[in-house]
Amino acid sequence: MVLSSVGKTTSVIALVVGTLSVLFYKPLVSKIDTLHDLPRAWHPFDGGTVDIRFADVIKYSEDVVIDHDRGIAIVSFDPTRSEWNTVMGVFKNPDPRGSLFIYDYASTGSVKELKLTGFPAAVDFHPLGVNFFRSSPDASTRLFVANHQRTGSNIAIFDVDYDSHEAKYIQTVSDNDNTIISPNSISPVSYTQFYVTNDHRYIARTSTILNKIETFLSRPWSWVTFVDFSSPKNLKCTIVADDIGFANGVLVTPTGKEVVVAATSSDSIYIYERDPETNLLSKSRKSIPVNFHPDNLNFDDSLDISDPTVFDAEGRFLRGVTVGGHPSMIKLFRMSRSPESINAPSWVAEIRRGRGVDPAPCPAGPEQEEFHVRTLYQDNGSHFPSSSTGALDSKRGHLLVSALYGKGILLISWKV
Ligand SMILES: *[C@@H]1O[C@H](CO)[C@@H](O)[C@H](O)[C@H]1NC(C)=O
Repeated sequence: MVLSSVGKTTSVIALVVGTLSVLFYKPLVSKIDTLHDLPRAWHPFDGGTVDIRFADVIKYSEDVVIDHDRGIAIVSFDPTRSEWNTVMGVFKNPDPRGSLFIYDYASTGSVKELKLTGFPAAVDFHPLGVNFFRSSPDASTRLFVANHQRTGSNIAIFDVDYDSHEAKYIQTVSDNDNTIISPNSISPVSYTQFYVTNDHRYIARTSTILNKIETFLSRPWSWVTFVDFSSPKNLKCTIVADDIGFANGVLVTPTGKEVVVAATSSDSIYIYERDPETNLLSKSRKSIPVNFHPDNLNFDDSLDISDPTVFDAEGRFLRGVTVGGHPSMIKLFRMSRSPESINAPSWVAEIRRGRGVDPAPCPAGPEQEEFHVRTLYQDNGSHFPSSSTGALDSKRGHLLVSALYGKGILLISWKV
């Protein structure tokens, strides 16, 4: 109800804005296509080695999440993303499936496919954001995967057995395109509750032009939904944050006191206060501008939650939030159409509270009072293009980066 009346108003606004955009095309393009002169493969890790791993088996990875207890990473990728991408509007062939791989980066260095058991053979599997929940180090591990099927987008839930490399299908969560229409990234808080971003109000499949206007004119029409499926007959979905331009990465910090959201088309990271009792988020938010279009968010869970340099007395993070992103939306868009010939640049950074200086050749954000952004990797596209996620394990000395339209996983390692 609320969405449809908002929809009508926004349609009218969209048409007006769309017409104006034709007149102001050039200045707009220069705003969304970052003109930084990025170096090739820069990183700040002293003596760090830089490797692209598994370029022959992993192709077009949207997300990577580190399971710090085990020292492994879960990688979500889709080798035929160039033929099926619901976010970028490519609908040629939904048949070939994407995959989840376990990457044992901390010990053997091997990858192994996570076999989906019990997942219907007739159902498409096109994973974007992937995340997991475990109540304690010895408890079972549950995976939450944003899945973009030809019939619609939803969240697929699996229970994982790392020893047998199996993900046992549990169920799919959808609310008939009411508050979950374009799920992108997920941050769970229990086995049956999670936050999910919806990256667009107008999805490319049904509203091609409005979808482009929403993306390229930075319209703040997307939102975050909190989902509770603990009662099987009573799915509860609540919009907990809206007014976001292309809501992408979402992260509940380890203290549960804050939720961080990446606004891709507004070049901003938002921080909300979270009420752990109600799961609701503050009306107001802090906004951190960055010099790229932020994509996925992660936390470096190898940091100690009781360390006073990691969280302050109120449980607010001081460091450890990482963000991957895209310096050029236009190059990324062009790469989505010809991934073998166009290379979009890459940027991965860490968000920290307090003042600080980014040592990178191109600073990751403007100078601010309350936060600073520190580059962990930047590349003009010639080394490892189209970074979508940076996952940091600072205790073991590794940074993993996924590439939306690149081959392999980037592994930066250093001595700790
Ligand atoms: C990236 O930087 C390298 C090293 O400076 C340069 O040789 C290459 O041409 C650049 N590539 C692009 C796409 O700008």
